[in-house]
Amino acid sequence: MSLGVTPFEEAGRVVGESEGGGTVDLWSASLEPPAPLRAHLEGYLSIDERERAARFVFPRDRNRFVAGRAFLRLLLAQYLATDAASLRFEYGPHGKPALADDRSGVTFNLAHTDSLAVCALARGSDLGVDVERVRPIPDADGVARSFFSPRETAELAAVPEPARFRAFFAAWTRKEAFLKALGDGLARPLDSFDVTLKPGDTPRLLRTLGDPEEADRFSLHSLEPEDGYVAAIAVRGHGWHVRHARWRWIESRRAEGEE
Ligand SMILES: CC(C)(COP(=O)(O)OP(=O)(O)OC[C@H]1O[C@@H](n2cnc3c(N)ncnc32)[C@H](O)[C@@H]1OP(=O)(O)O)[C@@H](O)C(=O)NCCC(=O)NCCS
Repeated sequence: MSLGVTPFEEAGRVVGESEGGGTVDLWSASLEPPAPLRAHLEGYLSIDERERAARFVFPRDRNRFVAGRAFLRLLLAQYLATDAASLRFEYGPHGKPALADDRSGVTFNLAHTDSLAVCALARGSDLGVDVERVRPIPDADGVARSFFSPRETAELAAVPEPARFRAFFAAWTRKEAFLKALGDGLARPLDSFDVTLKPGDTPRLLRTLGDPEEADRFSLHSLEPEDGYVAAIAVRGHGWHVRHARWRWIESRRAEGEE
């Protein structure tokens, strides 16, 4: 059996800046592929990924992890024109995966929420991605006080009620994407940098504590990969095109001689 995707050119659309820079491709995928495919996906994973999959308590979480790693591998295999199963990852000090022994310069980052995964890919630049389902947050202002900077908390409180949850998740995903671009996880305090969040404001890193030039080194991009979801990408440098495409889990029976 082989798996295929809708060619990017058919599904992609430009959602970001247009001058200079390279291209960031954002792919979104369901983590619940058609049942006939599921049993085959684990075959793409490495031994350590299978061991990790086996440690999940709930089958649904396990299946989603397997689908996420298979999606990541199949996608990278298309960009690198290689076998999904032969790809090797190395991990940063806080667990950020990257291609091992790689000369292509392809960088990527994966995020998931519920049954939706997104993967951002670029060439030659650190990047991070996050995705969240926009949903009501009881005591959003209180949660913001715990996770956001004072400036972000004040801006959020000033956003009128109907738009507040979207603004909350705009900020959340932008902050998380920046942390993921750095690969630092929560080693970097969440209140040590500010992002824009108000509806209509250009996604931007406004300030980082300690290094006045760091904010200018990264650009942020926000988009809706599916209705009701918001994603953000943080990427080193400016002038990037961001394109979005949907991954289709396609079973190619021809490859199995089942025509
Ligand atoms: C991994 C981390 C960076 C994000 O975790 P998360 O929000 O649970 O998960 P996401 O769906 O965004 O991303 C998970 C994926 O990121 C990748 N990843 C793991 N560690 C990473 C790191 N340090 N940096 C970047 N990417 C990382 C992996 O591919 C992982 O998926 P996989 O293991 O299934 O392949 C986590 O360590 C963390 O620090 N989260 C901060 C959460 C938070 O409080 N955010 C507040 C924002 S205001």
